[in-house]
Amino acid sequence: MQIENIDWGKLGFSYMKTDFSYISYYKDGQWDEGKLIEENTLTISQSAAALHYGQQTFEGLKAYRTKNGEIQLFRPDENAKRMIKSCNRIMMPEFPVERFVDACKKVVKANERFMPPYGSGATMYLRPFLIGVGDNIGVKPAPEYIFCIFCMPVGPYFKGGMTPVNFITSEYDRAAPYGTGAAKVGGNYAGSLYPHELAVKAGFADCIYLDPATHTKIEEVGAANFFGITKDDKFVTPKSPSILPSITKYSLLHIAKEYLGMEVEERDCLIDNIDEFKEAGACGTAAVITPIGGISHNGRLHVFHSETEVGPVTKKLYDTLYGIQFGDVEGPEGWVVKVD
Ligand SMILES: Cc1ncc(COP(=O)(O)O)c(C=O)c1O
Repeated sequence: MQIENIDWGKLGFSYMKTDFSYISYYKDGQWDEGKLIEENTLTISQSAAALHYGQQTFEGLKAYRTKNGEIQLFRPDENAKRMIKSCNRIMMPEFPVERFVDACKKVVKANERFMPPYGSGATMYLRPFLIGVGDNIGVKPAPEYIFCIFCMPVGPYFKGGMTPVNFITSEYDRAAPYGTGAAKVGGNYAGSLYPHELAVKAGFADCIYLDPATHTKIEEVGAANFFGITKDDKFVTPKSPSILPSITKYSLLHIAKEYLGMEVEERDCLIDNIDEFKEAGACGTAAVITPIGGISHNGRLHVFHSETEVGPVTKKLYDTLYGIQFGDVEGPEGWVVKVD
């Protein structure tokens, strides 16, 4: 196998065409057997429901190269299950969990020459998506669907170490109280582009979304979940029907409890009570954990541990999760799936 000539240390989070994608078509009420393809384009009807009515969902997960040269996926079955929930919410056919995991393995294996080496900090990012296609003009579920996975190597999120960043609360919402916030559907992200732009223009990394009904509780940090560490060392994360259930967040809840012996709580995190937290972070597949330096709300910046240094509990959580993902720390049963 000829290894692709890539400067792994310089990789960012950008699109790169790799050799193969996986594709499966749904027609006449069933999925075909699926296959690897070399094209990175799709030809679909101009009337596809994915284009007009946002009938689409996507996922994001990574493959990691371990010290002994193996390749492993982190909890791909959880991404498959979350995609099924998203499909149920917007009336698309489910793609079975076993087939999803198998397709992830196939795509990584077929693109192995793009797989970053252990120690580079880089990983292979997989983007599964499922879209409504076929001829259609009314607001109704599409007659046909495409499930596809492509992948590319991406750089470590933290090039210069884990530096905290600041966020600002937004007056906009990414989702309605009982809307599609818990589903990973494109419309939620289209709606987040403008508030993100406003936050960046104001000098912040991104915005914090408050609960859409009352704007008093923290929900999401950009496209990541929020957690805080209380002064008495509890791991706390918000609970709400409009938050995307982050696989990283649920992994951290388990790690905090079972590996670090902490008490954990999923409950409301009132923005007016953020000084209950001595540390805070944003978590998700891309960054693993981004330490939150401070949150600006109503013109006042509240700083947690520090604006320049990561807090000790956040660092321990990060090291344990990162260690499991790269195979240096033993993970709970089933978290790691080998690609062979
Ligand atoms: C809105 C939103 N919240 C949270 C997350 C983090 O989820 P995960 O940990 O499963 O990547 C993501 C990324 O998928 C997201 O898009």
